[in-house]
Amino acid sequence: MSRPSTVLLTGGAGYIGSHTAVVLLEAGHRVVVVDDLSNSSEESLRRVRRLADGDLSFHRVDLRDVEALDAVVTGAGIDSVIHFAGLKAVGESVDQPVRYWDVNVGGTIALLEVLERHGIRKLVFSSSATVYGEPERVPIDESAAVGATNPYGRTKQAIEMLLGDVAGSSPEWHVVLLRYFNPVGAHPSGDIGEDPNGIPNNLMPFVMQVAVGRRDELTIFGDDYPTPDGTCIRDYIHVMDLAAGHLAAIERIDSLPGCRAVNLGTGSGSSVLQVVAAASEAVGRPLPHRIGPRRAGDVPASFADPALAAELLGWRAERTLPEMCADAWRWQSQNPEGYPAG
Ligand code: NAD
Ligand code: UD1
Repeated sequence: MSRPSTVLLTGGAGYIGSHTAVVLLEAGHRVVVVDDLSNSSEESLRRVRRLADGDLSFHRVDLRDVEALDAVVTGAGIDSVIHFAGLKAVGESVDQPVRYWDVNVGGTIALLEVLERHGIRKLVFSSSATVYGEPERVPIDESAAVGATNPYGRTKQAIEMLLGDVAGSSPEWHVVLLRYFNPVGAHPSGDIGEDPNGIPNNLMPFVMQVAVGRRDELTIFGDDYPTPDGTCIRDYIHVMDLAAGHLAAIERIDSLPGCRAVNLGTGSGSSVLQVVAAASEAVGRPLPHRIGPRRAGDVPASFADPALAAELLGWRAERTLPEMCADAWRWQSQNPEGYPAG
């Protein structure tokens, strides 16, 4: 194991942040979470503390509040940062672009201001495969053109450019842009998982809410795509594998100067029908679904070439689609309404 360090997690109470906190604590790192709880519950962090021993502190702070963030960082001995905090719903970003640019880009600028003040120059950023837009080819490697097709994706692209400029300003900066494919699943305990507000936009949480009886049926958005079964193909990656990818990035960051983008995906795609079949298997009964029209903006196939992550981070995704579904179902069946309010 590398030297224990102190890692600031912005947005650490959220879905990916909470799983990453468990993995960092288990590896002996200290974790400082800042989150405004706008899309999460402090209950996730109470459960993280139950799952993993170690030093975790929580501060309810809006990232854009520079002075409040400065107060958290002052004296905390932060070595590096994983920047998860942000808004992530594509449809909402179309309706509320100013809010998305403000929180995502404005929040990142506020964070960078505080990091500069304290001489903290190691940063891992939550980017997304959405920056590739309509991919030229699959599997997608990091040299593929970027060109996001919605405001959410464009904020990610803008932050990537901003961080590239910042890293170019001093050789002391070490920045890793992690481009996630489709994170799904939950901690194998079923104690923490994904808890979306309202009607889920993403496939797996929707499927799991059908399984638990909160929704009647899944609508599959189109079965006339140029894929083997006509439904879209995505690279679903277990959130625990994703968390391990963050740990690897933090532990290798000293040897990664500058700014580089790295895909986090499995390298293999599954269709919507394959996900429904695997989820039905995990749940133990068929899940009601029907075919509906295509969703605007969907691309037929998106999956990663994950070779660079193996080379630079020594990381590979290990968990299978059946494990993703089994763990998602354990979380959902143990917590049918998600985290309790309050
Ligand atoms: P999430 O919503 O569960 O977590 C984000 C956290 O940030 C939440 O806890 C929220 O309360 C917090 N937050 C939002 N605005 C804030 C602010 N102004 N100040 C402080 N905290 C704030 O989402 P997630 O799925 O865990 O995603 C984490 C990151 O990964 C996001 O940046 C997201 O865009 C990115 N990402 C997610 C996916 C995915 O499918 N889940 C895919 C690609 C990239
Ligand atoms: C979506 C976002 C993308 C984001 C990603 C992960 C869009 C256009 N893209 O991508 O920016 O990075 O989530 O957060 O929203 N599906 C159904 N029925 C449903 C829900 C989904 O058939 O009720 C299908 C979709 O058409 C898609 C697949 O399931 O083919 C996966 O959908 P989703 O989980 O939303 O992920 P992405 O489309 O990859």
